[in-house]
Amino acid sequence: MGATTAFLLAFIASAHFVNGQNVFAHFMAQNSYSYAQQDWTNDMTTAQGIGIDGFALNIAANDYEVDRIVDAYAAAEALGFKLFYSFDMSYTWEASDMVNIVANHSSSSSNFMWKDTLLVSTYSGESYGEDFWAGFKSSLASQGINITLAPAFTTYRDPANASSLLNTFPSIDGFFNWWSWPADVDANLTTATDLAYQSAISARTGPYIMSVSPWQFKNLDGAGDWVEYSDTLWNYRWQQAVNDVKPDIVEIVTWNDYGESHYIGDINPIVNLGTQAPFYVDGFDHSKWRDVAQYYISYYKDGTAPAITTDEVVFWYRAYPKNITCSTGTLPRNAAFPEDAVFALAMLTDTATITLAIGSNTVNFTAGPGITMGSVPFPPEDQQIPYVEISRNGKKVADTHGSMYVNQTGCTYYNFNPWVGSVSE
Ligand SMILES: *[C@@H]1O[C@H](CO)[C@@H](O)[C@H](O)[C@H]1NC(C)=O
Ligand SMILES: *[C@@H]1O[C@H](CO)[C@@H](O)[C@H](O)[C@H]1NC(C)=O
Ligand SMILES: *[C@@H]1O[C@H](CO)[C@@H](O)[C@H](O)[C@H]1NC(C)=O
Ligand SMILES: *[C@@H]1O[C@H](CO)[C@@H](O)[C@H](O)[C@H]1NC(C)=O
Ligand SMILES: *[C@@H]1O[C@H](CO)[C@@H](O)[C@H](O)[C@H]1NC(C)=O
Ligand SMILES: *[C@@H]1O[C@H](CO)[C@@H](O)[C@H](O)[C@H]1NC(C)=O
Ligand SMILES: *[C@@H]1O[C@H](CO)[C@@H](O)[C@H](O)[C@H]1NC(C)=O
Repeated sequence: MGATTAFLLAFIASAHFVNGQNVFAHFMAQNSYSYAQQDWTNDMTTAQGIGIDGFALNIAANDYEVDRIVDAYAAAEALGFKLFYSFDMSYTWEASDMVNIVANHSSSSSNFMWKDTLLVSTYSGESYGEDFWAGFKSSLASQGINITLAPAFTTYRDPANASSLLNTFPSIDGFFNWWSWPADVDANLTTATDLAYQSAISARTGPYIMSVSPWQFKNLDGAGDWVEYSDTLWNYRWQQAVNDVKPDIVEIVTWNDYGESHYIGDINPIVNLGTQAPFYVDGFDHSKWRDVAQYYISYYKDGTAPAITTDEVVFWYRAYPKNITCSTGTLPRNAAFPEDAVFALAMLTDTATITLAIGSNTVNFTAGPGITMGSVPFPPEDQQIPYVEISRNGKKVADTHGSMYVNQTGCTYYNFNPWVGSVSE
C-alpha cells in the first residue's frame, strides 16, 4: 500500500468518526403491534426521504415488540436504513433479556455502529445502577459483542451534575440528553444541559446524542398531564443543533409517540392509540414538520445552510385558546405558557411578504431569503380558519387556508396539540 493510499484511508476513517453527523428518529416499538413489514418499509422510506439515517427503537418489553423488530430489521436491511436499540427502562427489565435482544440481530448490516461497536441507548435506567450496566456490557462482550452504551439517564439534567454522571457510571460510553423541551418554565430551552454533558462525555469513547423535538403535550392520566412551551421550538432547537452544539448524533424525539404530541411521522390508522390520545391526535397532522426537518438535517450534515429552491411556509396552531373550559380531560400543567397564535416558518428562495390572517387579525412581515418565523394572535371571533399567503413585489406567489378551525366554544377535551400545515409555490 502506497503512502498516499494509507494517508487517504486514514483520512477517510477519521472523517467517518469526526464527521459522523447522523440523524435518528426515536421510534416507539410499542406502537408497532399491528405492523406488517410493509408498515416499517413505509415509515423508513418516508424518514430516509428527508435524510434520517435510522430509527432508535424504543423497546418497552420482551414481548410482541421483539417479533415486530424482526420485520424492522428485514425492512431496514433492504433499504440500507440503520437501527439501534433504545431500551425503555421505565419498564422492568432483566439484563439477560436485553442481552438476548441485542445478540439476536447483532450481525445485521442494518445495525448502527459506533467505532465498530453496536450503539445501544435507553430511555432512563440510572436507577438500575452501575453494576447492572457493567454486567449487561460484559455479558455481551463475553459473546464477542462489544457495544457503545449511550443512555438517556433522565435525572441528569442539571449541568452541575455532569461530572457526577461519569463518576457514578464508569460503564457508560456516551450520553443521550432526552430533554428537548423547557423544564416547566415560561422560557425557551437553552443549550446549557447539552454543552455540559457533551463536554463531560467527550472524555469517553461514545457519542453525545442531542434530542431535538417539535412539541410536548400529554393528556392521558391526570397528574402527569403537561404541556411544555414549544411554540417556536422546532425552529430554534434545530438552530441550537446546527450552530451551537453540533452533536455527534441528533435524535428526533419522536417519530411516532402520539400520546406526547411530538410525532413527525404520519398518523397510521392501524396504530391503537388507546382511549384518550385519539381525542387530541386524530386529525392533528404533523407531517409538514418533516419539511422543516429536511432543511435542518441537510444543514446539520453539511455544516452549511442548504439552498432553498421552493418557497414554502410551514405553519402550526392549536385548535382552542388556552383559557377556555373543556368538558373532559384535564387542564395540563403549564397551560398558561403557550401563546394563543398561529406560528409560521417561512423557507424562502428570496425576500417575500408573508401574510398571516385569522378572523379580524392580520400580520404582514417581510422574510427571507432563508428561514424566518412570524405569528398572528388568535382573534376574538369564534370558529376561525387561518389564511397564509406568500407574495413578492405585490404579486401572490401562493396561498392557502388551514384545515383546522380555531374555536372558542364547544371544546370537548383539553387539547394543546397543534395542527401543522404548509403552503408552497
Ligand atoms: C430473535 O429473532 C427471531 C427471528 O429470527 C424471533 O423469532 C425471536 O423472537 C427473537 N428473539 C429475541 C429475544 O429478540
Ligand atoms: C471487543 O473489545 C475487546 C477489548 O477492547 C477486544 O479485545 C475484542 O477484540 C473486541 N471484540 C470484537 C468482536 O470486536
Ligand atoms: C444533582 O446535584 C444535586 C445537587 O448537588 C443533587 O441534589 C442531585 O441529587 C444530583 N442529581 C443526580 C441525578 O445526581
Ligand atoms: C422564545 O424564542 C422566540 C424566538 O425563537 C421568541 O420569539 C420568544 O419570544 C421566546 N420566548 C420567550 C418566552 O422568551
Ligand atoms: C380568553 O382569551 C381571549 C383572547 O385570546 C380573550 O378575548 C377572552 O376574554 C379570554 N377569556 C377569559 C375567560 O379569560
Ligand atoms: C398585507 O399584505 C396583503 C397582501 O400583500 C395586503 O393585501 C394587505 O393590505 C396587507 N395588510 C396590512 C395590514 O398591511
Ligand atoms: C370548530 O367548530 C367547527 C364549526 O362548528 C366544527 O366543524 C369543528 O369540528 C370545530 N373544531 C374543533 C377542533 O372542535
